[in-house]
Amino acid sequence: MHVVITGAGGFLGRKLARRIAEEGRVGAHRVTAMTLADLAAPPVPPAAFAVETLAADIAEACACARLIRPDTGLVVHLAAVVSAAAEADFALGWRVNLDGTRALLEACRERAEAPRFVFTSSVATFSGGQGALIRDDTRPVPANSYGAQKAAGELLVHDWTRRGFVDGVSLRLPTIVIRPGRPNRAASSFASSILREPLIGEEALLPVAEDFALWIASPRAAVDWLLHAASMNGAALGLDRGINPPGLTVTVGEMLDALERAGGAEARGRVRRVADPEVAAIVGAWPARFDATRARALGFREAETIAQTIAVFLTDDLEETRALRHAA
Ligand SMILES: NC(=O)c1ccc[n+]([C@@H]2O[C@H](COP(=O)([O-])OP(=O)(O)OC[C@H]3O[C@@H](n4cnc5c(N)ncnc54)[C@H](O)[C@@H]3O)[C@@H](O)[C@H]2O)c1
Repeated sequence: MHVVITGAGGFLGRKLARRIAEEGRVGAHRVTAMTLADLAAPPVPPAAFAVETLAADIAEACACARLIRPDTGLVVHLAAVVSAAAEADFALGWRVNLDGTRALLEACRERAEAPRFVFTSSVATFSGGQGALIRDDTRPVPANSYGAQKAAGELLVHDWTRRGFVDGVSLRLPTIVIRPGRPNRAASSFASSILREPLIGEEALLPVAEDFALWIASPRAAVDWLLHAASMNGAALGLDRGINPPGLTVTVGEMLDALERAGGAEARGRVRRVADPEVAAIVGAWPARFDATRARALGFREAETIAQTIAVFLTDDLEETRALRHAA
């Protein structure tokens, strides 16, 4: 099976590509080739099969046509303009997050057999903020352009699946913590910064109060979910292809308590509260409580505790983070 990963140079893309390269299979399928696409050619992990890279803009139909081959069995579509960037540049967000998704789905439509198409949607498709409890059948009412683009992308995946052009799964990811390296332009970037920066001896800014709750998961859990979405029985999903995975609800205060247990009081002391109304306006609308009954029934595993999430960072990503900081 040929695997395509878009956004393969990004945070989750690099981890997913590495994991598939290591394991050589996705579920019951042996991987025979993989194409990694991003705006700049992504790094190539060591693999026992051919890995090719493509530097291309996903919103260009011709780029998508070059990605999909007759033997493509899995497309994991991660390329996106993230939340604060999509809010800052309306046209770019819609172009990449919706037009890019459609161009990729259209390229898949040319295939004789429908490939599995895993789309990374987001917590941002919902609103309601701190008081909301999101159930499996809660209607998405996005409170920012990124959330609207992801919700629209889900509808495309839904209809291309219903028509038999792809076998789609849309995973609504929580905020993935801890992102290695430097902060990115996601409005939720602070959720990683307040743990990552103090753990490497640097100061972090906290734009929300300590009782602010977030819905999060570790990168390891996210990659496990992507692989499960890539290999699960699509028929078990029926018409409804959107999934709220079993993320973790945690307050900023609980994250800082865990930071203190891992890195001492001085690590916690490196987090400084500085109000940021722009960030607070975006993340303030995102719900933090989800009832993920359906995902559990479909075999999606639980997210780690925040202490485990910190331990995962220290094991998997501390060195890379230090190296990236050093190179900057
Ligand atoms: N990380 C999270 O907390 C989180 C939460 C919810 C949803 N998601 C979604 O999961 C996916 C992966 O997230 P991530 O954290 O790895 O993001 P990321 O920003 O690290 O990676 C996204 C990649 O997409 C690429 N990209 C952007 N525009 C492109 C274009 N026009 N053509 C080709 N590539 C393009 C970027 O260069 C980047 O490498 C995204 O779709 C994101 O919206 C992530």
